[in-house]
Amino acid sequence: MKYMQKMCAVSVFLLVAAGMVFSGGQRAQSSGKGLIGVVMPTRSEERWNKDGNAVKEGLEKLGYTVDLQFSDDDIPTQTRQIDDMITKGVKVLVIASIDGGALSNQLANAAAAKIPVISYDRLLMQSPNVDYYVSFDNYKVGVQMGEILVTGLKLDQATAANPVIVELFAGSPDDNNSVGFYQGAMDRLKPYFDRGVLRVPSGQIDRAVIGTLRWDAAEAQKRMENLLSAYYSGNVVLNGILSPYDPISLSTLEACKAVGYGTPGKPLPLVGGQDCIVASVKSILAGEQYATILKDTRSLGAATVELVNTIMQGGTPTGLDTTSYNNGAKIVPSLLLDSVIVTKDNVQKDVIDTGYHTRAELGL
Ligand code: BGC
Repeated sequence: MKYMQKMCAVSVFLLVAAGMVFSGGQRAQSSGKGLIGVVMPTRSEERWNKDGNAVKEGLEKLGYTVDLQFSDDDIPTQTRQIDDMITKGVKVLVIASIDGGALSNQLANAAAAKIPVISYDRLLMQSPNVDYYVSFDNYKVGVQMGEILVTGLKLDQATAANPVIVELFAGSPDDNNSVGFYQGAMDRLKPYFDRGVLRVPSGQIDRAVIGTLRWDAAEAQKRMENLLSAYYSGNVVLNGILSPYDPISLSTLEACKAVGYGTPGKPLPLVGGQDCIVASVKSILAGEQYATILKDTRSLGAATVELVNTIMQGGTPTGLDTTSYNNGAKIVPSLLLDSVIVTKDNVQKDVIDTGYHTRAELGL
């Protein structure tokens, strides 16, 4: 019910915003374009390039000028970029943070300069100076992460006498999204842990213990190697991995291959993921990674462009969720989009037919 309400709210917002884009876009072109600052955490991850470009192109189409910066996953770089943008006089700031709690000074400066701030995909924490949040429903994404294991590992048929064996990975502890992903996944998996049909031999379950700073796939691979040598040296076989991010799915699979998984009689553990990156879709088609979660960066970009345009036209965005996202200093009005689980079965329909990745990109 909560989900349906959210989706109705999102639809209303998009309709209203689309109307504003249509009329507002014309005005933006004819009467003074503004400079908009857009900061993305890093260029080295596929998704943030797509996000940055989607927002930039959308805003430019409406006649705005865009200063798009990528922060190399380095907090001082990101703070400097935002400081520069404030000095340059941007009209709106769109920020996807590295550490959601590290930008309070910049946000205070933006507020003093009356620059509205949109928190993009990751919630900016512990600051009252955040005007809007545009993201996917992170809790629901987490539920989907759990759902991938429930379905893929057929947990409903598992028994306590012959439990399914998994290890768990979480995202960066300084990224608030990791909280939603973890809570959603653990809520979905809880009944199976409670029934004893799902087991974690390492006992490493707390988010603090299974987190992966900066979503670093190499760090996750090392942790997987350590887990395999510490807990799987006897007859215990790993059946599945909870993964919050495609590069972590791929790197943990590599660790498993290195100790003999993926050979006759010892299948690779089943793993999901997130972001629908090209390498993971290829792996899914090759029968290695089992699934991923598509969060269409084009939709997030378009929603952000509409929001910026509404703000620039002096309009009031409507249909926002005003209860779900408390950043520690305020509840941030949020626009939450929907995500899709992708397995081999729907790559064609949801990834290729929609143009998210082309057949050529996927090597088909
Ligand atoms: C995003 C994910 C992404 C991760 C690593 C999270 O904040 O929501 O889509 O996989 O960061 O970049």
